[in-house]
Amino acid sequence: MSNTIQETTASFQQSYPDGPFPALIVNADQNLDLAGTVDWVKSEKERLFEALSDSGTVLFRGFPLSSPEDFDAFIAAFGESGFTYKESLSNAVRVNLTERVFTANEAPPEVGIYLHHEMAQTPLFPSKLYFFCEIAADEGGETPVCRSDVLLDRMKELEPDFVQACRDKLVKYSLVMPSVDDPESGQGRGWQSTLGVNTRAEAEARLEKLNYSWKWLEDGSLRTTTPALPAIREAENGREAFFNQLIAAFLGWADISHTGVHKIAFGDGSPMPADVMQRVCDMAEDLIVDLPWQAGDVALVDNYQVMHGRRSFVGKRRVLAALIS
Ligand code: FE2
Repeated sequence: MSNTIQETTASFQQSYPDGPFPALIVNADQNLDLAGTVDWVKSEKERLFEALSDSGTVLFRGFPLSSPEDFDAFIAAFGESGFTYKESLSNAVRVNLTERVFTANEAPPEVGIYLHHEMAQTPLFPSKLYFFCEIAADEGGETPVCRSDVLLDRMKELEPDFVQACRDKLVKYSLVMPSVDDPESGQGRGWQSTLGVNTRAEAEARLEKLNYSWKWLEDGSLRTTTPALPAIREAENGREAFFNQLIAAFLGWADISHTGVHKIAFGDGSPMPADVMQRVCDMAEDLIVDLPWQAGDVALVDNYQVMHGRRSFVGKRRVLAALIS
């Protein structure tokens, strides 16, 4: 790579046949500036993408990045086009800081966020994510990451019937979008903002186009159900991963069975066995690496291979994010 920028190892990594997870790249040159960093990314980008494909996550440490603008320049050096939060169907409340960069989630510190593939509960999801630690929490606040291909391998062994049912029947998700944004919740984005519309008629037109079904509830909120979506996806490198939102939905989403549907179901509407889902969640928990943030760190995550979440924290923490189409 260069004399002062090296791929290295650390105690928090896991080891897989393709190398460590996550890959860790550290800069030791105190004199490296932002322009030099951008040049380095541009010249190394093929190798970096290869490392990403092998490992699923690359953590960059020691680079001279301190602001959202620095982070934006770092991402831009990779030369890929962005996936804007405004267009997405994300259900998290976020604030844009630059065109590419937004706050990762406005949910309060004591709220943890369960493992998920970004927006895998919608038909529109990013291929990669970048995270940037602007301010590390005093305590906690790590970003847990989990290899979904490894998880699926374990599930094939331990829960083969469930894996087959996911393949055959696909899965669907139901949630209630509040009438206004609720920043106290990890999934509190209101229906106008989530769907990028102002009126009910516009909301219905958008949902129809997306093949969702929906119901307006008495309090003005909107219950939506996705079409049947795949729960298993093959990444470009040929690995199959448990690519979906089932764990976060099962553990974290509000129970909406009082509205007449379950939050997760197979594509034919049949219920998901809670005992199996709990065992899958436990297997995923066992596979987690907690990214131990230091200010200035960037993590590049392959959204097709790796799930991420957020640990609760104490103190001030600011982790920014950007999505790639
Ligand atoms: Fe996320």
